[in-house]
Amino acid sequence: MCSGNFAKCLGITLIPLAIICVLCNILLFFPSGKVAEQSSDITNEVFYLGGILGSGVLMIFPALVFLGLKNNDCCGCCGNESCGKRFAMFSSILFAAAGAVGAGYSVIISSVAINHGPKCFTPNNSTHAIYPFNDGDYLTNRTLWEQCESPGGIITWHLTLFCILLVTGLVQIGLCAFQVINGLIGTICGDCCGCCGVRRQL
Ligand SMILES: *[C@@H]1O[C@H](CO)[C@@H](O)[C@H](O)[C@H]1NC(C)=O
Repeated sequence: MCSGNFAKCLGITLIPLAIICVLCNILLFFPSGKVAEQSSDITNEVFYLGGILGSGVLMIFPALVFLGLKNNDCCGCCGNESCGKRFAMFSSILFAAAGAVGAGYSVIISSVAINHGPKCFTPNNSTHAIYPFNDGDYLTNRTLWEQCESPGGIITWHLTLFCILLVTGLVQIGLCAFQVINGLIGTICGDCCGCCGVRRQL
């Protein structure tokens, strides 16, 4: 198994996942698909940008680095054919770790948001959106959902999007963990592809 090829597959998978997370986070700024009158009516956790920064921007760098590993630095520095390649595999470990931290941030924010529930307008208070739920009680008791009078379908909207962010974040962490192991193998053993047919032009 070529560690560089494997990294490339990871990179290709990570990019659509990052795009999904950015889109989910953007959609969350529009409760039930509508433009909120005041930003204070939007669930606070949306502004922590778990999907846009954590699972999105922080994930793009490792994805691009992994994509580049196959062709990158096949033969390189120090008069040692696999040295450049090994260095590339080694640096990919650092990027994988950064990606895992970003995805971890998104997972934490999503878990907190799912536990808090969405901000919404209640029958008692129709001027400001509030958090009507405590400690995830709404997850097990659908009677409580009546507390959220508007926007319609806000709980489903909130749960669906934050669950996608949560699951995607966990997958991203798993893929980055794979690349840490793969990168370690590549660093220690070198890439076993023997793709050094073409010397890098310096
Ligand atoms: C669900 O919440 C309602 C309203 O607070 C309460 O009356 C009911 O007992 C709860 N049901 C369960 C199964 O906890």
